[in-house]
Amino acid sequence: MHMKFHITTFGCQMNVHDSQWLTRALESRGWEETGEDDAQVYILNTCSVRDKPEQKVYSELGRVAAHCKRDESVFAAVGGCVAQQVGRGFFERFPFVRLVFGSDGIAGAPNALERIAAGSDERVALLDFVTLYEERERPETPAAPDNTRQAFVNIMQGCDNFCAYCIVPYTRGRQKSRTPDAILDECRSLVDNGVREITLLGQNVNSFGLDKGGTGVSFAQLLRAVAAIPGLDRLRFTTSHPKDIAGEVIRAFGELENLCPSLHLPMQAGSDRVLKAMRRKYDMKRYLEIVDGLKAARPDISLTTDLIVGFPGETEEDFKETLRMVELVGFESSFSFKYSDRPGVAAVNMEPKVPAEEAAERLLRLQTLQNNITRKCLKNLVGVETDAFIEGLSRMQEGDALSWKGRDPAGRIVNVSVAESGDLVGRMVPVRIVEAKKHSLVGERTGEPW
Ligand code: SAH
Ligand code: SF4
Ligand code: F3S
Repeated sequence: MHMKFHITTFGCQMNVHDSQWLTRALESRGWEETGEDDAQVYILNTCSVRDKPEQKVYSELGRVAAHCKRDESVFAAVGGCVAQQVGRGFFERFPFVRLVFGSDGIAGAPNALERIAAGSDERVALLDFVTLYEERERPETPAAPDNTRQAFVNIMQGCDNFCAYCIVPYTRGRQKSRTPDAILDECRSLVDNGVREITLLGQNVNSFGLDKGGTGVSFAQLLRAVAAIPGLDRLRFTTSHPKDIAGEVIRAFGELENLCPSLHLPMQAGSDRVLKAMRRKYDMKRYLEIVDGLKAARPDISLTTDLIVGFPGETEEDFKETLRMVELVGFESSFSFKYSDRPGVAAVNMEPKVPAEEAAERLLRLQTLQNNITRKCLKNLVGVETDAFIEGLSRMQEGDALSWKGRDPAGRIVNVSVAESGDLVGRMVPVRIVEAKKHSLVGERTGEPW
């Protein structure tokens, strides 16, 4: 059965990577990815970290329902964190949903989809958690299908931290590290196939190896081993929990040439009292020590973060601490969210809840401050010489020369015009930064693409 499928992905990079893997696994079975209108199988890879992305799943399923009505053989599968949370509940509410799979169950999804497509009338739930990382089949075309020559590599699954607000430990299960051999083998084969940039993925990469699946290799050691692969131009990793970041990892930023000068280090709040209630297990003193260490190791490092406003019990004074810390660290950008109650997490029972209007007002103040800092950071880069790793054409085109969108080593978007034709995706264009926009940079080409 050669089916046409359509995948919609919500949530974090781990979900993006899971969808990429599933796409390739289905393609290796002869299936074909297609647009929304003519698919025979609809796959939703879902996120339940806040209420909003969860609600999106239900509205998306409403749209899929219309497609499934036109032909009885058309069906849907729901995967990811909402699937793990709601499970078989999807079968009751949506008759056209034939498969639900969680983040551990995804390994079995391609075969289950094949069986259903071949006419089996079963409804399949792949929701069991595993205790050790389960290697997934490795599709034949390991490189990114769009030729960007960038790839994600899982180093672990799940999370053991149980931050008071967070549903992830419930939807992704306990932390399970992958073996260093399997990780290195995948990285080498990606680089052999032309990949130039690898992002190592996990909910908390700094605690890599500190679970049952550990082999004694630390995250810092793994990082060194991956960085040493000849031909790997850029190495990144995400996400880091501040409580677990080792001095060796901080120093690596000054030592490993291909380790990109950027780090996403979720701070969540600037008040020690709130951090404690959030069960984050660090205080601002420790956080600022890490920041100092990073800046000493790599003065041009670009720091970004996640912030929550309106956590239960957060006062105006607490919130002002967050503003103060954001300014002090000078995050180049941040993702900030209003606290959202999630089923089963500890914070659901914490009081007093911050009224929605107050949280919205805090969020606005925080984002205004952030925009100002972002603008300053980007302005300071005018004049810098760097390389833009080209991902595709820029959204805005003007003049005769094509404008290409790339990223500098820190991951900032750099748009650059290049006169001659020819595909530049996957190439590095040497540039001098000539202008800072609100969220991106403009570069002028200074040398030959490589
Ligand atoms: N593993 C990552 C975070 C994954 S969730 C880490 O520990 O850093 C991504 C972000 O969503 C979190 O950093 C947090 O800022 C936010 N988030 C998680 N649960 C939330 C909730 N209940 N309400 C609002 N924001 C939340
Ligand atoms: Fe959630 Fe905390 Fe785990 Fe991150 S470390 S996934 S915020 S529980
Ligand atoms: Fe969302 Fe699950 Fe990622 S809840 S943020 S998709 S781990």
